[in-house]
Amino acid sequence: SPVSIPPPQCLKKRMVVPQRYMFGPGPSNVPPRILEAGANPVIGHMHPETFEIMSQIKSGIQYMFQTQNRTSFAVSGTGHTAMECAIFNTVEPGENVLVGVNGIWGERAADMAQRIEATYCYCSCCVVRLQALSKHRPVLFFLAHGESSTGVLHPLDGIGDLCHKYGCLFLVDCVASIGGAPVYMDQQGIDILYTGSQKVLNAPPGTAPISFSERACQKVFNRRTKPVSFFLDLSWLANYWGCDDKPQRIYHHTGPVTAFYSLRESLAVLADEGLENSWERHQKVAEYFHTGLESLGLKLFVKEKRARLPTVTTIVSPPGYDWKEITSYIMKKHNLEISGGLGPSLGLVLRVGLMGFNSSEANVDMVLEALRDALQHCHRSKV
Ligand code: GLV
Repeated sequence: SPVSIPPPQCLKKRMVVPQRYMFGPGPSNVPPRILEAGANPVIGHMHPETFEIMSQIKSGIQYMFQTQNRTSFAVSGTGHTAMECAIFNTVEPGENVLVGVNGIWGERAADMAQRIEATYCYCSCCVVRLQALSKHRPVLFFLAHGESSTGVLHPLDGIGDLCHKYGCLFLVDCVASIGGAPVYMDQQGIDILYTGSQKVLNAPPGTAPISFSERACQKVFNRRTKPVSFFLDLSWLANYWGCDDKPQRIYHHTGPVTAFYSLRESLAVLADEGLENSWERHQKVAEYFHTGLESLGLKLFVKEKRARLPTVTTIVSPPGYDWKEITSYIMKKHNLEISGGLGPSLGLVLRVGLMGFNSSEANVDMVLEALRDALQHCHRSKV
């Protein structure tokens, strides 16, 4: 019998995707070299050439994270998938997770822990952290290095040692910071580190580099229960990525091969520039931006200079203005994305991300001009 639902008219039109300046907290613009890499032919997810590209990705991740961990690979999915991969594999039901909260990502980590029937507790500063480690005896401590919702860069030194003293694994989210601020996974005693492809790496969203230390692997591979997710089960993923001792790689899921090509190329771009150069460039451009914001009369949300994330800047939402009108005006008039707050910073800030190849003084000038124009033309109530 004939189908009762006709082909949709909308699919008969050509798809339209505009060019846009992506200066929000991500995704960032994808440069031609990385876009072109993604346009290579699709081959099999188990073909030797794909395994070779995956192996190059592993080396790139080891460099980017500054780690020798052999269990370093990319999860098929965004940063959230890597976050769940970290938590679902390392924590068993009934265990305790300690969550450092300096924005939305801690809240999300707690939510994930709750879903697997782990208990969680929050802590917000160093003293509380020490007390909380000895009191709650968590198996995992979560911390966002770069909190994209509040624009805070959290120091990492010393925390790994402290966690290990209490038999706890140290999990760090560096989605918004990696490549833009120093992270030394091995030296800093980080047990699980993950990021996303769509920020400083300038690759399309959809792959999430992650790495597990030997200590983390010990915990994962000696679980009493199976991890709740088949898709994110570390023993399957480690085998698919050739990180274990098994002679054969077994089909687990169909790796997004074109996303792997883009990720490989984005890691090559980072390796070409060099981590130290990239960190320095992001810091310099951020400082230039912050000075420019202050000369427009705007205020930075993070007062302490050292605690400012160089990749994503949070600006106090200008008093008297509706932040949504500002972001919409800038999108419409300047074809440029900046965003409002997220989670605890919603309504309080504007957020500007200048990440990877977007991090340049020319782009800062463009954002400053757009903000100046918006402050002049958007509606201002008398306060
Ligand atoms: C996403 O990472 C965001 O900070 O909006």
